[in-house]
Amino acid sequence: MFSLPDVAAAAAGRLAAAHYDFFAGGADDERTLRANTDAFDRYRLRPRVLRGVGERDLTVTVLGQSLSMPVLIAPTAFHRLAHPDGEVGTARAAAAAGTVLVLSMAATQPVEQVAATGVRFWFQLYVQPDRAFTERLVRRVAAAGCGALVVTVDSPVFGRRRRDLRNGFLDLPAGLACENLRDPAGSGPPRAIGWEPGLNWDVLDWLRGITSLPIVLKGILHPADAVRAAERGVDAIIVSNHGGRQLDAAVTGIDALPAVVDAVGDRLPVLVDGGIRRGTDVLTALALGASAVAVGRPVLWGLAVAGADGVRQVLELLRDELDRAMALCGADRVAALGPDLVETVGR
Ligand code: FNR
Repeated sequence: MFSLPDVAAAAAGRLAAAHYDFFAGGADDERTLRANTDAFDRYRLRPRVLRGVGERDLTVTVLGQSLSMPVLIAPTAFHRLAHPDGEVGTARAAAAAGTVLVLSMAATQPVEQVAATGVRFWFQLYVQPDRAFTERLVRRVAAAGCGALVVTVDSPVFGRRRRDLRNGFLDLPAGLACENLRDPAGSGPPRAIGWEPGLNWDVLDWLRGITSLPIVLKGILHPADAVRAAERGVDAIIVSNHGGRQLDAAVTGIDALPAVVDAVGDRLPVLVDGGIRRGTDVLTALALGASAVAVGRPVLWGLAVAGADGVRQVLELLRDELDRAMALCGADRVAALGPDLVETVGR
């Protein structure tokens, strides 16, 4: 396997069709899903030369945490559906690679087991209509050593994913459960994730009242929302359309990024996800002002192919590709990447 698409192809042959579709699919007509990867074809790089790129330094610092490369693992559900190693396997790979795992609220292993790998992790939260339960969960993940809360804000209702409807994939198979939704923690039955259409900006005050963890908002696409997050003292945002699984026809993260970065300036770090499959995709995002990127499906494909080792391979492919792309663009460190390196074609 020499590229992330190679890993994806290998994974397709290893998963039950309905499980593959759950991971691969998007909302409605999947236009945004397709656009996420296609968008990168419209960006071209304008490299600089003779810049002495002897040793590239790929490290970045996000929320005070030093990462060996500007690539985090996006929160994705149900890792044990991909491989028995599950989220613990993904965590081992993230730790070995020196990056952060954003653990999904829909993880199939308990946060304490994930933390025991030594990984630095953030926890992705859908604020639940039952605030008392949400508070217990936030305290639980904080006690486990969580480094930030990633509050997903693009899901007031659940996207409609036709593949899952056709396949009748509505629930986890027997033996798998959302282990962090057990109530009481660890022993009770798992709760179902609830959606809260009434959620609004006031939830940030409530969250600040129950936790001192940094708060990251995931699923911002509009610059006015990014500004609002900055004004509210949010610690970081992730520009994202949820991998095309929520609003079909939503703008892609990479296309939304420049206006968001322009609107917030250096008031808070801006991360981006969606469709990142190559080192040059990472480089493009960084050049357009992202502090780091996150990858979702490629990690699931690596996990499906070879458990923790497969995830490690995906991360190392991206690292190697980014390193080479930076050298070829004349950048010896992430801070040397700027928008002058990027041009858009075909629009
Ligand atoms: C997701 N994503 C997601 N996001 C989130 O906030 N909570 C979650 O539980 C999940 N679950 C989830 C499951 C699966 C199977 C996928 C593919 C995605 C969205 C995810 O964090 C991220 O935004 C996208 O996956 C990024 O796009 P790529 O890298 O998959 O193209």
